[in-house]
Amino acid sequence: MLRGVKAFIIVMFFVIFVSGGSNPLRADDSNLDAATQARIAKADQGPRTIDVSGYPQKLQDIYTDIFSQKCTQCHRLSRPINSDFALPSEWESYVKKMMHKPGSNINFGQARKIIDFLIYDSSVRKKALLEEKLSKLTPEQRAAQEAKIKKVQDKYGQ
Ligand code: HEC
Repeated sequence: MLRGVKAFIIVMFFVIFVSGGSNPLRADDSNLDAATQARIAKADQGPRTIDVSGYPQKLQDIYTDIFSQKCTQCHRLSRPINSDFALPSEWESYVKKMMHKPGSNINFGQARKIIDFLIYDSSVRKKALLEEKLSKLTPEQRAAQEAKIKKVQDKYGQ
Protein backbone atom coordinates (compact mmCIF):
# COMPACT_ATOMS: atom_id res chain seq x y z
CA MET A 1 0.00 0.00 0.00
CA LEU A 2 2.74 2.40 1.06
CA ARG A 3 4.75 1.40 -2.01
CA GLY A 4 1.78 2.25 -4.17
CA VAL A 5 1.53 5.70 -2.61
CA LYS A 6 5.25 6.26 -3.02
CA ALA A 7 5.15 5.21 -6.66
CA PHE A 8 2.19 7.51 -7.21
CA ILE A 9 4.04 10.44 -5.70
CA ILE A 10 7.11 9.75 -7.82
CA VAL A 11 5.00 9.49 -10.98
CA MET A 12 3.18 12.74 -10.16
CA PHE A 13 6.51 14.45 -9.51
CA PHE A 14 7.63 13.53 -13.02
CA VAL A 15 4.32 14.46 -14.61
CA ILE A 16 4.19 17.87 -12.96
CA PHE A 17 7.80 18.98 -12.77
CA VAL A 18 9.86 17.05 -15.26
CA SER A 19 7.62 16.60 -18.28
CA GLY A 20 5.66 19.80 -17.66
CA GLY A 21 8.83 21.84 -17.52
CA SER A 22 10.42 20.43 -20.62
CA ASN A 23 7.34 20.04 -22.80
CA PRO A 24 8.39 21.73 -26.04
CA LEU A 25 4.80 22.68 -26.80
CA ARG A 26 4.63 25.07 -23.88
CA ALA A 27 6.40 28.41 -23.99
CA ASP A 28 8.15 29.16 -20.71
CA ASP A 29 6.76 32.57 -19.76
CA SER A 30 7.88 32.44 -16.11
CA ASN A 31 10.96 34.64 -16.57
CA LEU A 32 9.05 37.50 -18.22
CA ASP A 33 8.24 40.75 -16.42
CA ALA A 34 4.78 41.11 -14.86
CA ALA A 35 3.43 43.54 -17.49
CA THR A 36 4.42 41.21 -20.35
CA GLN A 37 2.99 38.18 -18.56
CA ALA A 38 -0.32 39.99 -18.03
CA ARG A 39 -0.48 41.13 -21.65
CA ILE A 40 0.34 37.65 -22.94
CA ALA A 41 -2.19 35.98 -20.61
CA LYS A 42 -4.90 38.30 -21.93
CA ALA A 43 -3.99 37.60 -25.57
CA ASP A 44 -3.89 33.84 -24.91
CA GLN A 45 -7.53 33.93 -23.77
CA GLY A 46 -8.84 35.59 -26.94
CA PRO A 47 -9.99 33.99 -30.22
CA ARG A 48 -7.69 31.34 -31.73
CA THR A 49 -8.64 31.77 -35.36
CA ILE A 50 -9.00 34.58 -37.91
CA ASP A 51 -11.73 34.66 -40.54
CA VAL A 52 -9.50 35.05 -43.59
CA SER A 53 -12.20 34.22 -46.16
CA GLY A 54 -12.06 37.78 -47.54
CA TYR A 55 -8.25 37.88 -47.77
CA PRO A 56 -6.29 37.36 -51.03
CA GLN A 57 -5.93 33.61 -51.75
CA LYS A 58 -2.16 33.51 -51.28
CA LEU A 59 -2.50 35.03 -47.83
CA GLN A 60 -5.23 32.53 -46.96
CA ASP A 61 -2.75 29.79 -47.90
CA ILE A 62 -0.01 31.34 -45.76
CA TYR A 63 -2.47 31.53 -42.87
CA THR A 64 -3.37 27.83 -43.14
CA ASP A 65 -0.08 26.26 -44.24
CA ILE A 66 2.56 28.35 -42.48
CA PHE A 67 1.31 30.77 -39.82
CA SER A 68 -1.13 28.30 -38.19
CA GLN A 69 1.52 25.56 -38.19
CA LYS A 70 4.70 27.41 -37.23
CA CYS A 71 3.29 29.81 -34.66
CA THR A 72 1.47 27.16 -32.63
CA GLN A 73 4.53 25.12 -31.73
CA CYS A 74 5.10 26.80 -28.35
CA HIS A 75 1.85 28.68 -27.66
CA ARG A 76 -1.64 28.99 -29.08
CA LEU A 77 -2.34 31.05 -32.17
CA SER A 78 -4.41 33.36 -29.96
CA ARG A 79 -1.15 34.91 -28.74
CA PRO A 80 -0.19 36.55 -32.04
CA ILE A 81 -3.83 36.96 -33.09
CA ASN A 82 -4.73 39.11 -30.08
CA SER A 83 -1.43 40.85 -29.53
CA ASP A 84 -0.97 44.63 -29.52
CA PHE A 85 1.47 44.53 -32.42
CA ALA A 86 0.15 46.15 -35.58
CA LEU A 87 2.94 48.15 -37.27
CA PRO A 88 5.01 46.43 -39.99
CA SER A 89 8.21 47.13 -38.02
CA GLU A 90 6.71 45.51 -34.91
CA TRP A 91 5.87 42.33 -36.85
CA GLU A 92 9.24 42.28 -38.60
CA SER A 93 11.21 42.38 -35.40
CA TYR A 94 8.87 40.13 -33.45
CA VAL A 95 8.60 37.32 -36.00
CA LYS A 96 12.40 37.39 -36.27
CA LYS A 97 12.65 37.13 -32.50
CA MET A 98 10.33 34.07 -32.57
CA MET A 99 12.28 32.59 -35.47
CA HIS A 100 15.50 32.75 -33.46
CA LYS A 101 14.07 30.93 -30.46
CA PRO A 102 15.65 27.47 -30.09
CA GLY A 103 13.66 24.83 -31.95
CA SER A 104 11.40 27.32 -33.74
CA ASN A 105 11.87 25.41 -37.00
CA ILE A 106 11.07 28.57 -39.01
CA ASN A 107 13.29 29.57 -41.96
CA PHE A 108 13.74 33.04 -43.50
CA GLY A 109 11.34 32.42 -46.38
CA GLN A 110 8.60 31.24 -44.03
CA ALA A 111 9.26 34.15 -41.66
CA ARG A 112 8.88 36.64 -44.54
CA LYS A 113 5.53 35.10 -45.52
CA ILE A 114 4.29 35.18 -41.93
CA ILE A 115 5.36 38.83 -41.64
CA ASP A 116 3.51 39.67 -44.88
CA PHE A 117 0.42 37.93 -43.55
CA LEU A 118 0.53 39.74 -40.22
CA ILE A 119 1.12 43.15 -41.86
CA TYR A 120 -1.86 42.60 -44.13
CA ASP A 121 -4.02 41.21 -41.33
CA SER A 122 -3.25 44.19 -39.07
CA SER A 123 -4.20 46.60 -41.86
CA VAL A 124 -7.63 44.94 -42.06
CA ARG A 125 -8.49 43.53 -38.66
CA LYS A 126 -6.61 46.01 -36.45
CA LYS A 127 -7.22 49.11 -38.59
CA ALA A 128 -8.05 51.40 -35.65
CA LEU A 129 -5.05 50.30 -33.58
CA LEU A 130 -2.78 50.59 -36.61
CA GLU A 131 -4.04 54.13 -37.35
CA GLU A 132 -3.49 55.13 -33.74
CA LYS A 133 0.07 53.81 -33.80
CA LEU A 134 0.80 55.46 -37.16
CA SER A 135 -0.48 58.81 -35.86
CA LYS A 136 2.14 58.82 -33.11
CA LEU A 137 5.07 58.50 -35.53
CA THR A 138 7.07 61.25 -37.20
CA PRO A 139 6.00 61.93 -40.82
CA GLU A 140 9.10 60.08 -42.10
CA GLN A 141 8.53 57.04 -39.92
CA ARG A 142 4.88 56.99 -40.85
CA ALA A 143 5.66 57.13 -44.57
CA ALA A 144 8.10 54.22 -44.18
CA GLN A 145 5.50 52.08 -42.39
CA GLU A 146 2.78 52.96 -44.91
CA ALA A 147 5.12 52.03 -47.78
CA LYS A 148 5.59 48.58 -46.23
CA ILE A 149 1.83 48.09 -45.92
CA LYS A 150 1.30 49.16 -49.52
CA LYS A 151 4.07 46.82 -50.70
CA VAL A 152 2.33 43.84 -49.10
CA GLN A 153 -1.08 44.88 -50.47
CA ASP A 154 0.41 45.21 -53.98
CA LYS A 155 2.35 41.95 -53.70
CA TYR A 156 -0.77 39.93 -52.90
CA GLY A 157 -2.99 41.80 -55.29
CA GLN A 158 -5.42 43.86 -53.27
C1 HEC B 1 10.14 28.16 -30.14
C2 HEC B 1 8.94 28.59 -29.47
C3 HEC B 1 8.09 29.67 -30.11
C4 HEC B 1 7.66 29.73 -31.42
C5 HEC B 1 7.91 28.76 -32.56
C6 HEC B 1 6.86 30.94 -31.51
N1 HEC B 1 6.81 31.58 -30.31
FE1 HEC B 1 5.85 33.31 -29.89
N2 HEC B 1 6.45 33.24 -27.98
C7 HEC B 1 7.28 32.27 -27.44
C8 HEC B 1 7.63 32.62 -26.07
C9 HEC B 1 8.52 31.82 -25.14
C10 HEC B 1 6.94 33.83 -25.80
C11 HEC B 1 6.98 34.64 -24.51
C12 HEC B 1 7.75 35.93 -24.73
C13 HEC B 1 9.20 35.70 -25.03
O1 HEC B 1 9.81 34.79 -24.47
O2 HEC B 1 9.73 36.42 -25.88
C14 HEC B 1 6.22 34.18 -27.01
C15 HEC B 1 5.42 35.30 -27.14
C16 HEC B 1 4.79 35.71 -28.30
C17 HEC B 1 3.99 36.91 -28.44
C18 HEC B 1 3.61 37.89 -27.32
C19 HEC B 1 4.63 38.98 -27.22
C20 HEC B 1 4.26 40.12 -26.30
O3 HEC B 1 5.20 40.63 -25.69
O4 HEC B 1 3.09 40.53 -26.25
C21 HEC B 1 3.62 37.00 -29.75
C22 HEC B 1 2.80 38.09 -30.41
C23 HEC B 1 4.18 35.84 -30.42
N3 HEC B 1 4.87 35.07 -29.52
C24 HEC B 1 4.04 35.59 -31.77
C25 HEC B 1 4.57 34.49 -32.41
C26 HEC B 1 4.49 34.28 -33.86
C27 HEC B 1 3.83 35.23 -34.84
C28 HEC B 1 5.11 33.09 -34.11
C29 HEC B 1 5.33 32.44 -35.45
C30 HEC B 1 6.20 33.18 -36.35
C31 HEC B 1 5.59 32.57 -32.84
N4 HEC B 1 5.25 33.43 -31.84
C32 HEC B 1 6.29 31.37 -32.69
C33 HEC B 1 7.73 31.14 -28.07
C34 HEC B 1 7.56 30.84 -29.42
